[in-house]
Amino acid sequence: MKRRTAEPYKIKAVEPLKMLNYEERKRALKEAGYNTFLINSEDVYIDLLTDSGTTAMSDRQWGALMTGDEAYAGSKSWFTLENAVREIYGYKYVIPTHQGRGAENLLSQMKIKEGDYVPGNMYFTTTRAHQELNGATFVDVIIDEAHDSLLDYPFKGNIDLTKLEKLIHEVGAEKIPYVCTAVTVNLAGGQPVSMQNLKEVYDLCQKYHIDVMYDATRCVENAFFIQEREEGYENKSIKDILKEMFTYSDGCTMSGKKDCLVNIGGFLAMNDEDLYTRARELVVLYEGMPSYGGLAGRDMEAMAQGIYESVDDHYIQHRIHQVRYLGEQLIDAGIPVVKPIGGHAVFLDAKQFLPHLKHEELPAQSLAASLYLDSGVRSMERGIVSGGRNKVTGENNKPKLELVRLTIPRRVYTNNHMDVVADSVIHLYEKREQITGLEMTYEPPTLRFFNARFKPLAVNGELIGSEASSTTT
Ligand code: F0G
Repeated sequence: MKRRTAEPYKIKAVEPLKMLNYEERKRALKEAGYNTFLINSEDVYIDLLTDSGTTAMSDRQWGALMTGDEAYAGSKSWFTLENAVREIYGYKYVIPTHQGRGAENLLSQMKIKEGDYVPGNMYFTTTRAHQELNGATFVDVIIDEAHDSLLDYPFKGNIDLTKLEKLIHEVGAEKIPYVCTAVTVNLAGGQPVSMQNLKEVYDLCQKYHIDVMYDATRCVENAFFIQEREEGYENKSIKDILKEMFTYSDGCTMSGKKDCLVNIGGFLAMNDEDLYTRARELVVLYEGMPSYGGLAGRDMEAMAQGIYESVDDHYIQHRIHQVRYLGEQLIDAGIPVVKPIGGHAVFLDAKQFLPHLKHEELPAQSLAASLYLDSGVRSMERGIVSGGRNKVTGENNKPKLELVRLTIPRRVYTNNHMDVVADSVIHLYEKREQITGLEMTYEPPTLRFFNARFKPLAVNGELIGSEASSTTT
């Protein structure tokens, strides 16, 4: 008999959810221009838009808030945070920032010169934007396997060493200020990097005197996959694995809103004293004093406590298993999803889900809108709408992957919520032929996915054909 496990926490405070009926959701969706970013959070039943800043804090974190030292300089809470980062991540120097992109801004400004190249394992929007803003060209050196959504491969986030070395030979090591390695890779589906690959990349970079900087945003999730999948790590603790991972790098940027289990916060960390000295100067311009970096003392207390809680083996096991619990229900029902199921989200392959829609009919946007209509579950389009337009030709960029991201916040929902999501996706899959495409009625010039508005292409203006067949209320 298969023994089931449950959440490694009990619930001390609850936030009641408003549950709209079908007609109310239909109205809310229309008012939001069929864009899930524009739906009011109050009108959402289960919010899977992002895992960023949506974490539930523990009673200890809430308690720690009260101990925050709000001094302008030399705050006690800053030393608490600095100690936590040093102990768990192993870096010598830490600069607090208001969130991940604050750290990306500082790092890119300090290290990049006009005409440089920054190799990375796929990109994240803000990370790449800061690199480009400072004059660098981003070069994707992730393994080819990462681009095949259906390929089941254990470490799809790995860097292709041949691609990296080829770039070094082509442009010269002096043009590469650092390699940016994301652990895990968000846009590849939350896919991890193996310890062996981290080590090999570091060894190669040492040979050419190139720094390795991690985007450590989901590093604890990455450590779990190493423990689960990599030979020699099955009996090591998450804490030990994490510590080893960071020894193969020179520093990192961190969005604390994910794996540090807080609603706001981040940091830049490094081992190089000169870089630290420069960062202490620069942070004052953009974030605040090096002893608060855009955060309140209480935020730093909560993040320090979150860092310790995040390396609890039971916590992280449940976290990954919950995402997988949802993903496997969908796989069992024959629904096309990115494989293997990653660390923070389940990604639906909208092109395969809605094969009757052309790419221009915005399958992922339409599927995300349909999911909200069916059950009040909010997800995020990651496809042609997010891809934007080619700056030169004005044509739509057509990303290979046309996905809907179901992102699971940490410690917020129970597996019953996951069942509701799975039922809704399966229900939609059963009547997928009735789902119509969308056309854009308003297109903002930049980052259009946030504010764009749409309307259904069907003559009768309905998103889902025979809506009466919906089983949800
Ligand atoms: N790096 C990665 C891999 C991220 O996923 C994010 C944010 C950032 C950096 C930036 O961090 O938001 O604290 O400034 N990702 C969120 C998401 C927004 O929904 O995936 P931030």
